[in-house]
Amino acid sequence: MIDREKALSIVTEYGQEHIMKYFDELSEEEKNELLGQIEITDFSVLSNLDDKANNNKRGVFEPLGAVTIDDIAANSSEYKEIGIEAIRAGKAAAVLLAGGQGTRLGFDKPKGMFSIGVEQELYIFQCLINNLMYVVKLTGAWIPLYIMTSEKNNKDTVDFLKEKNYFGYDPEYIRFFIQDMAPSVDFDGKILMESRSRISLSPNGNGGWFSSLVRAGLLDDIRNRGVEWINVFAVDNVLQRIADPSFIGAVIKSGLQSGSKVVSKAAPEEKVGVLCLEDGKPSIVEYYEMTREMITLLNEKGELAYKYGVILNYLFNVAKLEEICDRKLPVHIVDKKIPYMNENGDLVIPTSPNGYKFETLVLDMVHMQDSCLAYEVVREKEFAPVKNATGVDSVESARELLKANGVKI
Ligand code: UTP
Repeated sequence: MIDREKALSIVTEYGQEHIMKYFDELSEEEKNELLGQIEITDFSVLSNLDDKANNNKRGVFEPLGAVTIDDIAANSSEYKEIGIEAIRAGKAAAVLLAGGQGTRLGFDKPKGMFSIGVEQELYIFQCLINNLMYVVKLTGAWIPLYIMTSEKNNKDTVDFLKEKNYFGYDPEYIRFFIQDMAPSVDFDGKILMESRSRISLSPNGNGGWFSSLVRAGLLDDIRNRGVEWINVFAVDNVLQRIADPSFIGAVIKSGLQSGSKVVSKAAPEEKVGVLCLEDGKPSIVEYYEMTREMITLLNEKGELAYKYGVILNYLFNVAKLEEICDRKLPVHIVDKKIPYMNENGDLVIPTSPNGYKFETLVLDMVHMQDSCLAYEVVREKEFAPVKNATGVDSVESARELLKANGVKI
């Protein structure tokens, strides 16, 4: 481990000397804790603050069409057949992104441990595993499930799923891996401290999932199992269809390099990232990046040209992932509420955003693909996000959608 002098030179280089303000007063154990954190922290992300306004400059956007719900219905049996065959041949795996902190939900455990049930316990993890189980039963093949956690929630997640017997999933097909952490800063770019010996670190976004999976040594597992396609999905959509044979089949049939499930926007102004082309490559434009003209533009059919919103359900090809693994993803700077230690040494839990976190996002991986099939799904059947405790995309709205889909809650 690095020593005091080395740590001091690192923090000084980045103008973060305050991190070591109390160092000489700490116990041996605390000193080691802080030195260990300084050693593993990627301070270089801080440089993204220098040119915050110009960070992530975008190219030229163009609309991208989708295979629509009607197209899919017309080709349903063929898509399913191709997908089922690929799954039976062991070519598909799934990656659950569960490293987030779910701050908006305000639940202090991993989001997947939240019970959305009303009359019975029905955990978010359970909903997702049930959905995946449906495909296991349909195909007669177990689908490897890789679960990404963070340092903050790994133990709770692993213990919980074990205690619940993985909700009936075969543990031979479940693997966990831990994502990296990045420092959080105040609005002046000073790293926040959680205590005198602990830097405020948080999960560095869901974009690092593949490199973290590789670092955890799981690429061998993927190769040994002969996996060619990975379906990446978020923890918080309880109606999520995972390893959906029809989606996998449609992407394989299309010959495109990747796929993304999309829903038609509910309204032009809906706050959702839209799958489109950027400089000729597939890309996701965030709602706040869209100009008025893009928002209202119509195509020749009189429909919104930028119509297809993403729901964080992607299909990536393993060979392509390996190729792009070392490429740097853009770093997003996000306003967040970050608990911190104040001048007096007291822990403050802020009620409004007080600083920035640095995140890379899986959606930026889409832009590294040569092509991407936009695959339209019925929103009410496949999209029930649990982001907030109440209101839009909340526990309440997800419960209604689960009920409407015949799930006992
Ligand atoms: P969100 O963007 O909703 O972030 O994550 P979050 O941290 O879970 O929630 P808030 O914003 O604090 O309320 C979308 C998906 O990406 C995963 C989440 O677990 C969720 O499945 N994620 C997010 C990670 O796996 N790691 C991260 O660092 C961030």
